[in-house]
Amino acid sequence: MSFTRRQMLGGLAGLAVVGLGAGGTARYWLGRRDDDAGHDYELIAAPLDVELVAGHQTPAWAFGGSAPGTELRVRQGEWLRVRFINHLPVETTIHWHGIRLPLEMDGVPYVSQLPVKPGEYFDYRFRVPDAGSYWYHPHVSSSEELGRGLVGPLIVEEREPTGFAHEVTLNLKNWHVDEEGAFLPFSIPREAARNGTLGRLSTINGVPKPTIDLPAGQIVRVRLLNVDNTATYRLNFRGDAQMRLYALDGNPIEPRPLGKDYWMGPGMRVCLAVKMPAAGEEIAVRDGPVRLGTLRAVATADAPGDWPAPLPPNPVAEPDLANAEKLNFNFEWVGQVSEDIGEKPPSLWQINGVAWDITDKTCADRPIARMQLGKSYILEFKNMTQYQHPIHLHGMSFKVIASNRRKIIPYFTDTFLLGKNERAQVALVADNPGVWMFHCHVIDHMETGLMAAIEVS
Ligand code: C2O
Ligand code: CU
Ligand code: CU
Repeated sequence: MSFTRRQMLGGLAGLAVVGLGAGGTARYWLGRRDDDAGHDYELIAAPLDVELVAGHQTPAWAFGGSAPGTELRVRQGEWLRVRFINHLPVETTIHWHGIRLPLEMDGVPYVSQLPVKPGEYFDYRFRVPDAGSYWYHPHVSSSEELGRGLVGPLIVEEREPTGFAHEVTLNLKNWHVDEEGAFLPFSIPREAARNGTLGRLSTINGVPKPTIDLPAGQIVRVRLLNVDNTATYRLNFRGDAQMRLYALDGNPIEPRPLGKDYWMGPGMRVCLAVKMPAAGEEIAVRDGPVRLGTLRAVATADAPGDWPAPLPPNPVAEPDLANAEKLNFNFEWVGQVSEDIGEKPPSLWQINGVAWDITDKTCADRPIARMQLGKSYILEFKNMTQYQHPIHLHGMSFKVIASNRRKIIPYFTDTFLLGKNERAQVALVADNPGVWMFHCHVIDHMETGLMAAIEVS
C-alpha cells in the first residue's frame, strides 16, 4: 500500500491562516470550486483552552479554533477540499463520518493513509455525493482525541433550495471533566466493558445548557448531531412546538412526527423541522428527563413560512433483496476486566469471534467479510450482549430493513443503533471498492475490540 499527500509544511510559523472566520466560524468560497489547485478550507487542529466550567480552563483540542470544530459546508455533488494542518502534540487523521468517498480520503490510519504527524499537513479532497448532516473526527487514539474536542459538523447542502429559510446545528457532547474543568479518564476498562465511559458534563455546541435564539413563528431546520464518545441521547422536547422529522443520519425520510424519545446513539444525526412558538416562549431540548438546552423564540419581522416539501433522496443504490447474499455478524461480549491497563487496552468485545486490536497495524489485512463489487448483500446483525451498540460502516450507506424488536420503516443510514439482544437486517449494494471499517461508535467499545474491516473488491 502506498500513501500520498501527507506532507511537511515548510516553516509553519510563516503560514498565513485563512479559512477561519472570526470566532472560529466557517467561511467558504463558492466561487473557487473549479480551481483545482486550491482548497476551500484550511483546518488546523491545535490545543485550545476552553471554559466549560465557569472560572476554569479545560485543555481541549480543537479543529479551527473551537470545540466542537468549525462547521464545514459544501454543496452536494461538489468537491470538498480541506487542507488539514496538525498543530497538536500527537498524530492524527480526519475521518468524514457518513460520507461515501474513496478509501484514500477516509482517514483510517494505515488503511487510508499514514497518520498526520505534528507539524504536518494532509490535503483531503473528495466529491460529496449525498446531502445532509455529517461530521468529522480523527480515527487515531479516538477516546482521547474525540474526548478532548476533536469533533465537528460537516453540512452538505442540497443542490436546490429546500424551502427552509432558517437553520441551526446543535452538536451534542458530554465532556469527561470534573467540577474544575480538569479532564477525567476518557476510557475506564470497567466502563468500557459496559455502556462505555460517559462524560459528566453535557453540552450543546460546547456550552452547558445553552439558550439558543430562533425566530418566533418560523419553521427552523434543526440539525442535531451526536458527536459524543459514548452517550445515547433519548432525545425529546418540551414546550409548545410542532415538529417533524425530515432526515435520519443524513438521509431524507418521509416527514413524520418525532415520536416520544428518539434514541440517538453516538455518531447518529437527525434533521428536524421545528415550528418555533410565539416570541418569548421556550422549547427545552432534553435527554430523557434532563434538559440539555433551550430554544427560545425571539420576535422577527419575517412572515411565517409553511412546512417544506420532503427533502430530495440521496443517490444511494437500492439493494436487490431478492438476489442478495446474506452475511451474519455476531456482536459478543468477552470481557475479562482487570484494572491493570498496561500499554494495551483490554480486549472486551468481538465481532464473529474476532476482537480488533488498535495497537496492531495489520488488523485490516484480515477482513471479517469480503463483498463482490456491485453485488447486493443483506447483513444480519445479532447483538448477543446486554448493551446497545451504534453499528457504523464506512464508505457505504445501508438500508435498515428489519428488526426482531421494533417495527422498521426502511431507511438509509450509516449508523444503526442495535439494541440489547436485538437482531436486525440491513442491506446494501457493495458499490465502493476498498477495505472499510465496520465498528461500534461507542468509542471505548471500538477501542476494546468492537471493530472489523469489510473488503469490497
Ligand atoms: Cu465516525 Cu469509524 O467513524
Ligand atoms: Cu465513519
Ligand atoms: Cu458498542
